[in-house]
Amino acid sequence: MTSLGHDVVGIDVDEEKIRLLSAGEPPFFEPGLPELLDTAMKTGRLTFTTDISAAAASSIHFIAVGTPQMEDSHAANVSYVHSAVESLMPHVRAGHLIVGKSTVPVGTAAQLAIRIRAIEPKATLLWNPEFLREGFAIEDTLMPDRLVYGVPPGAEGERATKLLDSVYAKALSLEVPRIVTDYATSELVKVSANAFLATKISFINAMAEIAEVTGADVTQLADAIGHDKRIGRAFLNSGLGFGGGCLPKDIRAFRARAEELGAGTSVAFLSEVDAINLRRRTKMVSLTEEVLGGSVTGKRVAILGLAFKPNSDDIRDSPALHVANQLHAAGAHVVATDPAAVETARKRFPEFDYAKSVQDATRDADAVLVLTEWSEYRFLLPDALPGVAQRVILDGRNCLDRDLWMEAGWLYRSLGRPSTKSET
Ligand code: UGA
Repeated sequence: MTSLGHDVVGIDVDEEKIRLLSAGEPPFFEPGLPELLDTAMKTGRLTFTTDISAAAASSIHFIAVGTPQMEDSHAANVSYVHSAVESLMPHVRAGHLIVGKSTVPVGTAAQLAIRIRAIEPKATLLWNPEFLREGFAIEDTLMPDRLVYGVPPGAEGERATKLLDSVYAKALSLEVPRIVTDYATSELVKVSANAFLATKISFINAMAEIAEVTGADVTQLADAIGHDKRIGRAFLNSGLGFGGGCLPKDIRAFRARAEELGAGTSVAFLSEVDAINLRRRTKMVSLTEEVLGGSVTGKRVAILGLAFKPNSDDIRDSPALHVANQLHAAGAHVVATDPAAVETARKRFPEFDYAKSVQDATRDADAVLVLTEWSEYRFLLPDALPGVAQRVILDGRNCLDRDLWMEAGWLYRSLGRPSTKSET
């Protein structure tokens, strides 16, 4: 927002985050963010604070707090959204715009709008869902695929649209599509987009299961169906499936909200999407047991990749960590590494051994598991791992050159691909 020319104050209740940001350090790994933050801080137009009264100096307020899964159910926990609005309201004046970015169950915006109106009748709520991907956050923010505005009806909605257009003037001038709609549609656009993406991944992983019992190759299948423009190749990468702080909890929250609305059957398939996804993790564990002679007890297993996806240090619901933990629980000696997520993983699972380099992680390994497709691992050469005890590699993301590893004398196994060399 600062790089777009705006004056910005970032507010959070987390003192450590604010301390780091104020010192120009991003509190998480995101390519390009340190440089962008540095440039923005030098303008003097970006500050950070835990003091909510700093919001009084702004006329547009973005609510971007998390909506994690509830501990005791599949529903989303919207309490942080409500408390952010409550603490913001004393500083909101007539004519101000409150912009909701958090992913919320449909109906939340309408409820918040009533609350906001009761306190400041001349302030407006606009729902503007966020579609950025971790690892591409800057690009997706500055040049989004589309902008969606959920607005109240009539002149109030038109005024709010104009105000938010002034924030996004740069993207709009480059013809980024903008859809102006009601609150409910805007909330649903977000959750249905994530539900669709999750379904696409689980679809290809279901095909991987079929490929496994037929000897077919799911990666070639994905390439072939992906050439059909109506299908598209994106999000058809089979393997360990989806994790992270969004897709898993969003499909569960969508299911839970639809149940509350009496429309549970309409999205009942999302439970199957979730189940297919989780089965891939179990399959990876059983495949490891199989290649190690039926048991991993006492075996040294090298894990390459801990983050839920490459270019991130986020380990929330990481398929890689899930697999590592299952193997550890089954008695394996897990030695894990990741270009960015070792420290976040260590906090969560101090019981694993962590290595700084691929060479250290794989030394004396009985099996090497590639569980997050960082480019460092995708283009790894068999010669780079001379210290392994056994030349066994399991490709959890179908990201390695199978023929290369097999020609180098390795036992190569993956999810949904046969362990025979390519015909062509
Ligand atoms: C996802 C959406 O893609 C964003 O549009 C959305 O804004 C965000 O959630 C959110 O709701 O905040 P993100 O969680 O950063 O973004 O990650 P994705 O790129 O969607 O990947 C999610 C998971 O799916 C990862 O674990 C990834 O490895 C996996 N994946 C992705 C596959 O297994 N196969 C694929 O083909 C693609």
